Amino acid sequence: MLNHKGTKKIETERLILRKFTIDDADDMYNNWANDDLVTKYLTWPTHSSVEISKKVLGYITESYKEEDIYSWAIFDKKVSEVIGTIGVVDKDDNHEYCTMGYCIGQQYWGKGITTEALKVVIEFLFKEVGYERIQAFFHSINIASGKVMEKAGMKYEGKLRHYQKDNKGNFVDCDFYGIVKKDYFII
Ligand SMILES: CC(C)(COP(=O)(O)OP(=O)(O)OC[C@H]1O[C@@H](n2cnc3c(N)ncnc32)[C@H](O)[C@@H]1OP(=O)(O)O)[C@@H](O)C(=O)NCCC(=O)NCCS
Repeated sequence: MLNHKGTKKIETERLILRKFTIDDADDMYNNWANDDLVTKYLTWPTHSSVEISKKVLGYITESYKEEDIYSWAIFDKKVSEVIGTIGVVDKDDNHEYCTMGYCIGQQYWGKGITTEALKVVIEFLFKEVGYERIQAFFHSINIASGKVMEKAGMKYEGKLRHYQKDNKGNFVDCDFYGIVKKDYFII
């Protein structure tokens, strides 16, 4: 039985994970959403203007009315800006599993930031919300994303061929990782 808590604020050593506000539009646009390299392996297209970021944030902030929405802004304490996002992109409450997604700005890559965020979100989703399984997947050539999953304690489960279309409409193979409650509580 799940115990939804909504996008609760979570603090780590370097980060604050919190709800987005409309005022985060400039950070979203400037730090990651306007960058073709960030969106290269994602399903959504690069934002062509800050107006698009505002619109997206409008949908996200509206969605917080529901208590089962998990969509965090990743706020970097040192630079005092929102540098990316992490959240549940899909879920099945009947079978008590959810799928994670994340991205951060290019200048922050390779510093362990997404791993730090994913670890604490997994902890929250297991301990506080009570999911049985947390999964994530990436376009098979997006190796860095798989590394994040591995470093956060997820196990490789296999490749699903032509599982998604990328943002240019091409079918791509995806590698799946997952972690189940019993793995988590013995880590
Ligand atoms: C994927 C992404 C989230 C990783 O974030 P990050 O904060 O840089 O991740 P971390 O620093 O925690 O870990 C990345 C790991 O991948 C490794 N890595 C990076 N590029 C790599 C490559 N081409 N081949 C192998 N390993 C690679 C890094 O060395 C690091 O591992 P290490 O700590 O063992 O050295 C970030 O690159 C991103 O936002 N990309 C664009 C959006 C995206 O692809 N999101 C995921 C969709 S599934």
